[in-house]
This record gives sequence, C-alpha cells and structure tokens, in this order.
Amino acid sequence: MHPETLLVSAARPAHEPDAPVNEPVHFSSTFVGWDPDTAGPRRIYGRMSNPTWDGPERLLAELESVEDPEATPGLIFGSGMAALAAALHLAPAGGRVLLPQHAYQGLGSLAHQMQAEGRISVETVDIADTAAVVQALHAPGAQAEVALLWLESPTNPMLEIADLPALIEAAHAAGAIVVVDNTFATPLVQRPLTLGADVVVHSVTKYLAGHSDVVLGAALTSDPGLHARLLAHRSLHGGIAGPMESFLALRGMRTLALRIERSQATAAELARRAETAAQDRSLPVAQVRYPGLSSHPQHELAARQMERGFGSVLTLEVEGGAEAADRVIQGLRLWVPATSLGGVESLAERRRRFAAEPSTVPSGLIRLSVGIEHVEDLWADLEQALRAVMGGGERDR
Ligand SMILES: Cc1ncc(COP(=O)(O)O)c(C=O)c1O
Repeated sequence: MHPETLLVSAARPAHEPDAPVNEPVHFSSTFVGWDPDTAGPRRIYGRMSNPTWDGPERLLAELESVEDPEATPGLIFGSGMAALAAALHLAPAGGRVLLPQHAYQGLGSLAHQMQAEGRISVETVDIADTAAVVQALHAPGAQAEVALLWLESPTNPMLEIADLPALIEAAHAAGAIVVVDNTFATPLVQRPLTLGADVVVHSVTKYLAGHSDVVLGAALTSDPGLHARLLAHRSLHGGIAGPMESFLALRGMRTLALRIERSQATAAELARRAETAAQDRSLPVAQVRYPGLSSHPQHELAARQMERGFGSVLTLEVEGGAEAADRVIQGLRLWVPATSLGGVESLAERRRRFAAEPSTVPSGLIRLSVGIEHVEDLWADLEQALRAVMGGGERDR
C-alpha cells in the first residue's frame, strides 16, 4: 500500500456491523491477567503496554519500513527526548559516541550530561563532512572504538545533510550502532532503516502528530535485540505515552501526507523568494538555507537520499544579527513566534536565544517551520516584518 493510504486505513477496527471507525482510547493502568491456563497474559500493567499504543506503533513501523512490524513494532514514548534517551543508552558504558555538531540541542545536552557522569565519551563532528566523520570513526590512537554514531539529517537548525548510506556503512565497518533522528524529514520523505540504520527516532510531537497539541516520541528498529533493549528502557525508566496523546498522534498522522505535501511546497517557494530577495538586496537577508535550493552545498545529496521533497523547515540569516532578527520576529503577525516545528501553523524562532545552542549557529538565524497556510499570506507577513527592520523602502547598501 502507498503511505498515503496506509496513513488513513491502518490501525482501524475490523469492518464489522456496528464497529466504530476509530479505535477507542483505553484509559486503564492495569489489565485483567488472572488465567491459570495461559503461560502469561500479554498485558500486565500500563507502564509496559496499552492497547491505544498499538495503532500508532504498528503504523510507524510500516511507514519506516521495519522488516517485521509484528515482531518489532514501533515503540512510542512520552516525548521525543524519552525516545532519544533510550536510543543513546544503547551505547555501552564507557563507549565513544559521535554526534553531529548541530544535532538537536536537547540531545547534545543529554549526551554531555552523560559524559560528565562518566557514562559515555562524546565527540562532535561536522556531519556534512563525510571524510571527517569516517576518519573520526576509525580515529587512530583513540582510547576506544566508536560504539554509537548519531545522525540527524537535515540537522536542526543548520539543515546540513548527512550522507546516510556512506556514513552508515563506515560506522558498521567500525562496529558502531547507527541511530538516525528522522524528525525533520519524516518517514514520507526519508527512510533511514532502508539505508541500513539500526535505529530511527522521532519527536512525534512535530510533523507526525502535526497540530502542536501533543508531546510524544518514537523509536523504531528491525533488530530484535535492540528492540528488546529499547522496550526495557521504556518500561523501566517509565517514559511512556499517555493513551490520549497516543490517540491524538494517530489522528494527526491520518493527514500527514497532505500536510507534508503542502508545507514542503510552500517552504520551497518561500526559500526561492527569500533567496531572490537576498540576491537583489531588496530584503535584509544574508543567507537562506533550504536543502531544496540548488545553492545548498549538499543539494545533490539531499535530492538522492530524500525520497520526495526537502522538508518544511528553512532558515533565514537576517542582516544585523540577533537584534535585527529579534525585531523581525516581533514584527510577525501571522507566523507564531514560538519554538518547535511540524505543526499546521507556521512558527518562527531565533535559535540562539537558547544558551545551549552552539555558537556556530549564526546569532541572527531565524528557523522557519512552515505550516499549511496559504503561501501568499506567509510571504506577505515575512516580507513586511523584514522590510520593517530595513526601515521601509529600499534597503541601505
Ligand atoms: C530533531 C529533534 N529531535 C528530538 C526533539 C525532542 O523531541 P520532544 O520535544 O518531543 O521531546 C526535537 C524537539 O525539538 C527535535 O527537533
């Protein structure tokens, strides 16, 4: 089945007279289990499983092309960070972990905290520089071999592209597990497990749920051993999803294909217009980053490995640095000045407002998460906010 159809038709009750069209939400912390004739009930307690998780878990596994979704269904977690934490803990004690310099900053903070506790050793790499990452994987003279390579592509917020097949192959040759955060691309656009990744993680909060009303995460793997460890981490650390959030995420996923189609087309158009305005100096934009632009240094690679489209996030580097970028954000009327991404409403944020964001992210960089509003309304709002910073009319040279 095509993903569009799967998204709509999967995880529904059987077509029987009087059956509901949607699965009910199961608010239950425990499950009836007393049966001396069975070896053991499948459901015991709400921290281990809940029937409301089954639909989104199975659907996510199908979308990410897990080899046997029945044996290793997706695992949903109470947040993206809970899923990321479970995956990061796959690194053995004392293991070397390579992270993209511009990975989601929450992941960087967690990894460095685990390093401070003596749990792992962390090295950050420029994920766009394949040769440098391969060299780091085999680092001669390093105390230990790399145990885990963390990849994110496109990265948040610099939108760098990792050469997934090449890096996954090199990591496996070095004996490392590869985890890919696929939040920005979604499984509609990129399927890292088909490129050899061991584990995929998501902030379901973003595009998958899609309405900025839920915080949820997921981890996926085809490897039964890794699946068992991720499941054990979830059950024992307790970062589980609530039934209502699981229901909302599944409901959001029903429209994922339509939302992505629209938001990607709009992001591409906004990127083109902003780049033209930067080139003819009609707006105070120093640089536009979007993997779909031919000016993106890894556009060709993105076109090869992203199956349909280039995502719905772009960034603008505003001339005048943090102060000018903040004024642009304050001048927006339609775009919501808020963190996060992937909702139906468009969001704008200056990323360096967070102290944890690396100093290599330009201080005037605004991350735009494009929603599903009309492109002309989004452009008009962006244009007026940028023009206001210029002082109106022609830009000073
Ligand atoms: C790429 C990426 N991964 C993971 C996360 C963390 O997810 P959550 O906020 O759902 O815990 C985020 C959140 O912004 C993200 O952007």
